[in-house]
Amino acid sequence: MVYSVKTFNNINQVGLKELGNHFQVDGDLADNPDAYILRSQNLHGTTFPDNLKAIARAGAGTNNIPIDEATAAGIVVFNTPGANANAVKEAVLASLLMSARDYIAANKWVNTLSGDDVPKQVEAGKKQFAGSEISGKTLGVIGLGAIGGRIANYAQRLGMNVMGYDPYVSIETAWNISHHVKRVDDVKEIFANADYITVHVPLTDETRHTFNSEAFALMPKGTVIINFARGELVDNAALFDAIETGVVKRYITDFGTEELLNKDKITVFPHVGGSTAEAELNCAIMAGKTIRQFMETGEITNSVNFPNVHQALTAPYRITLINKNVPNIVARISTAVSNLGINIDNIINRSKGEYAYTLLDLDETDKAKIDDLVATFEASDNIVRVRLITKK
Ligand SMILES: NC(=O)c1ccc[n+]([C@@H]2O[C@H](COP(=O)([O-])OP(=O)(O)OC[C@H]3O[C@@H](n4cnc5c(N)ncnc54)[C@H](O)[C@@H]3O)[C@@H](O)[C@H]2O)c1
Repeated sequence: MVYSVKTFNNINQVGLKELGNHFQVDGDLADNPDAYILRSQNLHGTTFPDNLKAIARAGAGTNNIPIDEATAAGIVVFNTPGANANAVKEAVLASLLMSARDYIAANKWVNTLSGDDVPKQVEAGKKQFAGSEISGKTLGVIGLGAIGGRIANYAQRLGMNVMGYDPYVSIETAWNISHHVKRVDDVKEIFANADYITVHVPLTDETRHTFNSEAFALMPKGTVIINFARGELVDNAALFDAIETGVVKRYITDFGTEELLNKDKITVFPHVGGSTAEAELNCAIMAGKTIRQFMETGEITNSVNFPNVHQALTAPYRITLINKNVPNIVARISTAVSNLGINIDNIINRSKGEYAYTLLDLDETDKAKIDDLVATFEASDNIVRVRLITKK
């Protein structure tokens, strides 16, 4: 069995090797591939090829992919959470240090000097760039996931008092967060007490404008805000007022819009938080492994539109279904199997919203019977995708 993968955006070749020998990448089957691997390619407004079963985004955000349309078409969408977390962590730590000392302005100023007495001019003018130290200051981290959790741990090693807020933190992530990080139950505690605040949450209706006029009203003068998550987490009009009144000393962000550029108290980077060679490689490796696992075993890891499903394949055949999450669907699937006199070795059905993923391991070696069952499922209105996987 050869699976076909179409790639976009120059996916790292070393990562693509993770696919192994049963995959053809960007070959003659790529017009109707089994899977896409991409980074920022915008799929909104495009048509999915009939054969497409999986899309892997080598990165964290998936807003370039129409998730609801993919789900309805029976396509599992994956991302690579945490693969670029270390890169973003380092960018945020650099920003934290930079916001305490105005290195950029200091460097700009020193480059304006000339003449034999530059050292003298330096000594006379350097006072304007005296900064402060981050050690002993309080950092508030909003969102303690892959990136926020790492930053919280490192910041406390740099001598900062760290407060973290994340009402939805996963158990796995929580285990990795230092007990020195103080967990708070109300984000207002961070707004009211932190000298520096860094945000690491996804953009959702709940998180949009996390930094609004009510939030700024709670902050002491001189607060530094670092935003390497998404621009829309900050209400820019409220931010400008907070800068004007001295509440916000500096805003550092990875997301530029015209109104933020060339402002004295604002530092904008061109979305480079996750842009390192190591992160790009990690993302490609994770995307390659995820697609290989899904295509070869039907197991799901790190999908944004279907739940994780893991089960070792020991039976001769496995059928995977993407089905509408309607009443009695599992009973109807089981009946279809027993009507053909086939034994179920194992069945897993996990739903997410209006759709579910069913993994059906069959204790049956008669391929003709299995083909009949596949045909029955394909004819069902409630099933949008049927795949047959044979044990190697
Ligand atoms: N600048 C860049 O280049 C870059 C790179 C990667 C990720 N990002 C952004 O950073 C974000 C975080 O990435 P991650 O890898 O840490 O994701 P993650 O999923 O590991 O962590 C996100 C955390 O936010 C928490 N959360 C969700 N809603 C919340 C809320 N209302 N209040 C507090 N916490 C909340 C979740 O529980 C989770 O722990 C991404 O969504 C993405 O937007 C930016």
